[in-house]
Amino acid sequence: MIDGLVTLAYLVAASLFILGLKRLASPRTARAGNRMAALGMLIGVVAALLSERILNPVELVGGLAIGSVIGVLLARRTPLTEMPELVAAFNGFGGAASALVAAAEVLRGVEAPTRVITEAGEFLEGGGLSMAEVAVVAVSVLIGSVTLSGSFVAWGKLRGKKGLGGFRGLRLVSIAVGLAVLAAGALFVAAGASTAGGLDGGLGEGTALWLGVLAALSLVLGVLLVLPIGGADMPVVVALLNAYSGLAAAATGFVLGNYALVISGALVGASGLILTRIMCEAMNRSLANVLLGGFGADATVSTSGGDTDQPPVKATTADDAAVMMAYAGRVVIVPGYGLAVAQAQHEVRELVDLLQREGVEVAFAIHPVAGRMPGHMNVLLAEANVPYDQLIEMDEINPEMGQVDVALVVGANDVVNPGARDDEASPIYGMPIINVDEAGQVIVLKRSMRTGYAGIENPLFFKPNTQMLFGDAKETVKAVIGELKTLQAA
Ligand code: TAP
Repeated sequence: MIDGLVTLAYLVAASLFILGLKRLASPRTARAGNRMAALGMLIGVVAALLSERILNPVELVGGLAIGSVIGVLLARRTPLTEMPELVAAFNGFGGAASALVAAAEVLRGVEAPTRVITEAGEFLEGGGLSMAEVAVVAVSVLIGSVTLSGSFVAWGKLRGKKGLGGFRGLRLVSIAVGLAVLAAGALFVAAGASTAGGLDGGLGEGTALWLGVLAALSLVLGVLLVLPIGGADMPVVVALLNAYSGLAAAATGFVLGNYALVISGALVGASGLILTRIMCEAMNRSLANVLLGGFGADATVSTSGGDTDQPPVKATTADDAAVMMAYAGRVVIVPGYGLAVAQAQHEVRELVDLLQREGVEVAFAIHPVAGRMPGHMNVLLAEANVPYDQLIEMDEINPEMGQVDVALVVGANDVVNPGARDDEASPIYGMPIINVDEAGQVIVLKRSMRTGYAGIENPLFFKPNTQMLFGDAKETVKAVIGELKTLQAA
């Protein structure tokens, strides 16, 4: 009866994960999807902890209360701009949890078996894991530990911590550590499988030792793998580590015989891999190219090589920008990370409403890696209730950029850098961009001539059809709105 209820709870949890994931595919249903998946997780965790008698109900409620308070505080206190760091940290904790649970299972599994005497004779019961199960534990500990340390290096890099670069000979060291990890894994499996359920019972000497060595080396490997990857490639790494944390959870699910964990881990693993692929495609890079380092190194690079012949940039005013847009037939707004920093989404929405009242056709062009996390711009604009049909993806808008009168770039930089398209020497050459330079006029809202995330100069700012409107995006958009209102009143 109890077993049936637990299986039913796992089935409900797994169904909620799948339905939740499906709803996450559209900004319209994403919130509901998130809640569904969270409910599924709650059901799965409660069922697992109660059915295995790991916690009594009082401990369970206490643990849930503490976890909920931490979760609510973290979510409320973390600004949207720091979400990628939070996701990286969560991935790390997910990997660590999987590795610890799997390790505990093997250590528990090699405890002395019980000697059972029946009419058929004397034999040993319990107290062991099969070789295949110990091998799965090794996989879980390896992936979980790599995810933990790799995620915290990614977290540090996203926070801009210094001293997290690579060093000479790093690749050779990584290969050596990788081989040592494989050797430790093999020794652990051999030790674990030979003692598990063996006649002597008890924890085999080598088992705990090799488990510890495997975990320690895997932690070092995680650091070494993420260290050389820098700058613009961090989002891909975070998505990949997310996939790893799912795979570690799925492996642990096999060890525990917990199907809800297998299913949820597989879903996280698969969706993380799909997201990784989508982002690699958005940057026109192979995953191998990303992982072996390359563009996005932390150094600041100037595509002009400090060229002093660079034409001067043209600065404009809110007044001129308002007139230019009010008399345009079609305006395309390209949001970027600066929109999130300035929190200018509500003002941008008001600007769009005013322009539409003037009969101007307005749309948003969304680059898949604009901002600092997947879907960053969609989330911001949804917060300001911008209708979804106004958001147009890069591939769809690019063929039309030639017919756009004004492209308004709000705090975007790398994603509109024509060097990525035209300049083979550019470190981001090959990354697809939104071709704003093909529009009749380009107005760029940013505070200074500073570079964006990839740390490279942007030739767009020096083009004859580009004008810079310097200042915090929220303030400049407010100023443009003020001018538009004056125009409309006149
Ligand atoms: P960026 O290239 O980072 O440029 C953002 C620009 O916003 C900066 O040049 C900055 O210039 C300006 N800015 C900052 N605060 C501002 C404010 N308050 N008001 C006005 N402007 C402001 O952004 P992007 O074009 O969105 O490109 C995203 C980059 O991040 C890509 O390189 C991408 O690969 C990388 N990345 C993406 C993700 C994901 S998944 N989306 C995650 C991590 C990294 P000023 O300082 O002069 O104002």
